[in-house]
Amino acid sequence: MDKDNRQANHCGFSRELLIEHYTHYPEMQQNKIKEIEARLIKADVAMADPNFCPLRSLKIEHTHALNSVKLHKKFFENISQQLDTQPSLEMLHMLERDFGSAQEWEKQFFALAMCSRGWVVLGFDLEDGILRNFFSDSNSEGVWSVIPLLVLDVFEHAYFTAFSSRNDYIREFLRHVKWSEVSRRLNVVMEMYKKMK
Ligand SMILES: [Fe+2]
Repeated sequence: MDKDNRQANHCGFSRELLIEHYTHYPEMQQNKIKEIEARLIKADVAMADPNFCPLRSLKIEHTHALNSVKLHKKFFENISQQLDTQPSLEMLHMLERDFGSAQEWEKQFFALAMCSRGWVVLGFDLEDGILRNFFSDSNSEGVWSVIPLLVLDVFEHAYFTAFSSRNDYIREFLRHVKWSEVSRRLNVVMEMYKKMK
């Protein structure tokens, strides 16, 4: 999130909410990543065991912290100061192709945001070039080969101090999607996808 974005007052996305969220969670996880990576170097590989061992525990927390930083980064970057920005024509075309229409995509994305305990992601799968919605209840879940295009944080810390309901928060988020950033991500992954085919 850039400085202007952090200082913006996004209606329900209050300045305090965004700054608290932005500074607290990703920076805390960045510090944890450094600590875990320092410990990983010293972990005893001779004790490797699928039930329990220090190396296994460290790698679980490593994935958790890395995904937290990556997903928060994309989440903050895909929030706009402007209301009701529009997807690119290519994005619209792909939403129609893979969901029937942009409205149908939004309906499913909204419903997933209502039932997820952590994240909701519109992703592009580099294996088959299809857009799909995903949710994950923790930072440790995800589908290999899927590149996140639009990310929404629905952990309670993301909204409970500023919104009376999750429903209101999701609606406000969808009005603040920075579609230029989402469309830019689509262009990048489409180039990758063409080269991989
Ligand atoms: Fe968060």
